[in-house]
Parts: sequence; structure tokens; C-alpha cells
Amino acid sequence: MPNAIETSHLQKTFGSFTAVKDLSFCVPQGEVFSLLGPNGAGKSTTISMLSGLLQPSGGEASIMGHSILSDARAARAALGVVPQDIALYMDLSARENLNFWGKMYGLNGLELNRRIDETLEIIGLSDRQRDRVGTFSGGMKRRVNIGAALLHHPQVIIMDEPTVGIDPQSRRHILDNVKRFNQAGMTVLYTTHYMEEAEELSHHIAIVDQGQVVACGTHAELIKLVGEQTRIDLTLNVDAQKGVELWQKVDGVSKLTVEEGRINLLVNDSNRVLPRLFENATQAGVRVTSVDIREPNLETVFLHLTGKALRD
Ligand SMILES: Nc1ncnc2c1ncn2[C@@H]1O[C@H](COP(=O)(O)OP(=O)(O)O)[C@@H](O)[C@H]1O
Ligand SMILES: [Mg+2]
Repeated sequence: MPNAIETSHLQKTFGSFTAVKDLSFCVPQGEVFSLLGPNGAGKSTTISMLSGLLQPSGGEASIMGHSILSDARAARAALGVVPQDIALYMDLSARENLNFWGKMYGLNGLELNRRIDETLEIIGLSDRQRDRVGTFSGGMKRRVNIGAALLHHPQVIIMDEPTVGIDPQSRRHILDNVKRFNQAGMTVLYTTHYMEEAEELSHHIAIVDQGQVVACGTHAELIKLVGEQTRIDLTLNVDAQKGVELWQKVDGVSKLTVEEGRINLLVNDSNRVLPRLFENATQAGVRVTSVDIREPNLETVFLHLTGKALRD
């Protein structure tokens, strides 16, 4: 049985800029697989190459065993893509938009009508099907976008950051849909910069940064990469940058970032390190105003692997 998606040393350059450096990952059939990475990691560029919109500068990829280079038509036929940017006609109704996309996929007549009905049901917009998409909320537009990718019954669906900037209700609807699609036998490639979504949905997660996979595994496997380290979030009564000065060189501190006024640290042996952090602060006449010791999560893993915070 071929993998649903395979990429091998995929690369994309725009002039002298490298957006995707060397990206390899495998998505087994039947999985929800997430590409988790910050904005600019190269997720959408990768999706564009998989869906045939962009020609790779190097490397190879396949969908259900069909090469995107030498067997592009078969690769595309197996794939439904929900792009990050909404691609709909705002002056047309939801039903008319789906009709348009269905025809693009070569569907027509009664069969197309049946599939549009079925799709409207899945995306929860049967009752709004006659309304102009231009009057829809961001989340409803997203759902129509998802519907368009489902009409031709693809074996594999790719969803590129489908929950960015939408209301919580639509977000929940989309996450539940992902699970439902998967239960119905579809393989899902999901991209996100929200670690909670990757954790909730995925069998496997590839963490991407700067156009490369920096780690791949199950959620539990990825968490293990942090080892015995503890994540500590601290705030000071002065600017958080002071924490960098104070603590960067403390023995046992392996990573340190500042985010929204908080200093996030990864430390080995917190029992030993924490008192030292306080000592340093006191000596400098600075007060620690809060301490939060956290279970490592995917953000911790990202910090551990890249030295950076996952979110901007
Ligand atoms: N057409 C393009 N021309 C030049 N640079 C691009 C183009 N498309 C994307 N990029 C750059 O490539 C990098 C990766 O972008 P993208 O794939 O959109 O990342 P992500 O989807 O992970 O946020 C970014 O720095 C982006 O600005
Ligand atoms: Mg993107």
C-alpha cells in the first residue's frame, strides 16, 4: 500500500530566496498528519507544490503513489485541497460556488447535484445554500472552501490553516469535520501554527521550520525530545529583556525566549536552577513577579529544537 503522501527533499526557491529548503515526510494512508510550524515556515508553499500550483525547484513528491512530476493528473485526482486563501465567488451563492467547483472536477448533472447536497450537509450550510457567499462570516466562507475540496470524493485532503481568523463555533465545526473525514477513511494533511490543533487531531506531526522538518513523530514521541527538561515561565517587575541579561548564562538554562512580557526558559533540574534564577534577580535588585512551571508541550519542543517561540 503506497503512502498517501510522500515528499522527498522537496525544495522551492523564489529567486535567491529559499522558501522550502529540504522537506521530507511521509503520510501513511488513513492518518491525520499535521505540519506544525510558524508563519513563514514554508507550509503553504509545500501545499502549492503538492497540488500542482507550483513547480518544485528540487526533490520529488507523490500522492497515493502517483508522482506529482511524472503523473501529475493522477496525483491531482486523488487530492482535495483547501487553500489557506479563500477561493470563492462572493457574488454567487454557496450552492453556485460548489456547482462551479464540481464542474471544474468534471462532475455534472444529477450526480453533481447529489454531491452538492451531500457536501452542504457535511459543512453544515444546507439552510444557507441560496445565500450569497459575500454575506457569509469568515468561518462560513471557510466551510464552503472545504466543501469545494470534497466534491470529487478525494482519497486525500489537504487543509492549509483552515481555522485562522474565524469564530470559535466554525473552528469547532472544522476540527470535528477533520475527524469525521478521517473516520470515513480519508487521509488528512493538516497545516497549522496552533499546537493545540496539531495535538488534538494528529496521528503524526511534522514540526517544520525554515523549510525543513526539524522533527516528526507522534505527540508523545515529540514531547520526549525535550527529555527531563522543565519549562518555566517567569515575569519580572521590570522589562522582560532584563531576564535575558540575568539568566541566559545561568548553568542549567538550556533555552530562553521572551514572549509577551514573559520569559520562557527550558531548564535541566529545576530544583537546582530555580533558586539560582531568584538569587541572580535579587542581586540585580529585580523582583520575580510570577513563576509558572509547566508540563512540556509542542511549543516547548519547538523551543528546544529551534531556540524560538512557535507563535509570532
Ligand atoms: N511567491 C513567492 N515569492 C517570494 N517569496 C515567497 C512566495 N511565496 C512565499 N514566499 C516566502 O516563502 C516563505 C514561506 O512562505 P509560506 O509557504 O507561505 O509559509 P507558511 O505557509 O508556513 O506561513 C515566506 O518567507 C514567504 O514570504
Ligand atoms: Mg501558510
